[in-house]
Amino acid sequence: MTVLKITPPQSIALLGGSGFVGRALARQLAQAGYLVKVLTRHANRASVLTVLPEVQIIEIGSSGASLSEALQGCSAAVNLVGILHESGSVRFDDVHAGLAQQLIAACKVAKVRRLIHIGAIGTDAHAPSRYLRSKAASEQAVHASGLDWTILRPSVIFGQEDQFLNLFADLAKIAPVLPLACPNAQFQPIHVEDVARAVLGCLALPETSGSTLELCGPKVYTLRELIQHVEEWIGVRPPILGLSLGLSLLQASIMELLPIKLITRDNVRSMQVPNIGSGPFPSVLGFRPSSLETIVPAYLLPQLGRARYGHLRRFAGR
Ligand SMILES: NC(=O)c1ccc[n+]([C@@H]2O[C@H](COP(=O)([O-])OP(=O)(O)OC[C@H]3O[C@@H](n4cnc5c(N)ncnc54)[C@H](OP(=O)(O)O)[C@@H]3O)[C@@H](O)[C@H]2O)c1
Repeated sequence: MTVLKITPPQSIALLGGSGFVGRALARQLAQAGYLVKVLTRHANRASVLTVLPEVQIIEIGSSGASLSEALQGCSAAVNLVGILHESGSVRFDDVHAGLAQQLIAACKVAKVRRLIHIGAIGTDAHAPSRYLRSKAASEQAVHASGLDWTILRPSVIFGQEDQFLNLFADLAKIAPVLPLACPNAQFQPIHVEDVARAVLGCLALPETSGSTLELCGPKVYTLRELIQHVEEWIGVRPPILGLSLGLSLLQASIMELLPIKLITRDNVRSMQVPNIGSGPFPSVLGFRPSSLETIVPAYLLPQLGRARYGHLRRFAGR
């Protein structure tokens, strides 16, 4: 008699899994049959994921489990931790490089060999911004880890819950004019579902170990072009006032005084580095990334349903 061996589902730990990319990834992993452990400092931040029976939310840190306890039994860990702005005692180096080192140490204790690390395009030890330099330091820690690592470096990420195009859409709806820092900064936006799909691809493809893969969409845009698209799609047209580098830094230094951080001087310095890939989308992943045009209008204007196609036809010149 043949005995069928049923392998139990693999468990994947997501550090920073409560965030924008983490939520999309948790859903895709659950759909693909994985068990997911979302490791978070505050369980309530991941509460939208509690509806998924495959997802377990584990509070870590002073009030909860240690990282190595939380990683027990996992076959891989994904590091999705990232911040765009420093505030108070929260510093880029601690969050990016420090937590990457802690996760690596915890993986070794818990005997988790596979690590997928989400970096960013443009990271470099000599980059002009602290954000990019600290992301580079986190990647260096991953290189030196001795684990089976893959680093994924996305350009700016768009999706229904993004805080990039949605933010500009909200501003464009109320502002009579849009003073735009770094209008010529270059981006190659990638859909959040494609970033999640790339992580699943890496988990299934051991040959991606030891590789750094850039995740960029099919097209390069300047920031001004992106905002023009957003305005076209939502049907408003406040003029865009492109600011010089000096004025961009001045605007950012004033906005740093606000309680909610929209842009900082460090962000302006990050945008001096083109946020674009050095080559085509990695063929090893076996899919092509979606274009901005096929995804974004549907979530910027969901209330208009079919009516939004009028805007799109005008935009396409039809
Ligand atoms: N979104 C983009 O356009 C973009 C572009 C390039 C690269 N990336 C990278 O992609 C990754 C995911 O980005 P995302 O957009 O999903 O970010 P996000 O929505 O802001 O989520 C980031 C996660 O980091 C964790 N985190 C934040 N501050 C922390 C701290 N001080 N200590 C510990 N954990 C902290 C949070 O987890 P808890 O609060 O649950 O603990 C949060 O869920 C990041 O590495 C980011 O740098 C993003």
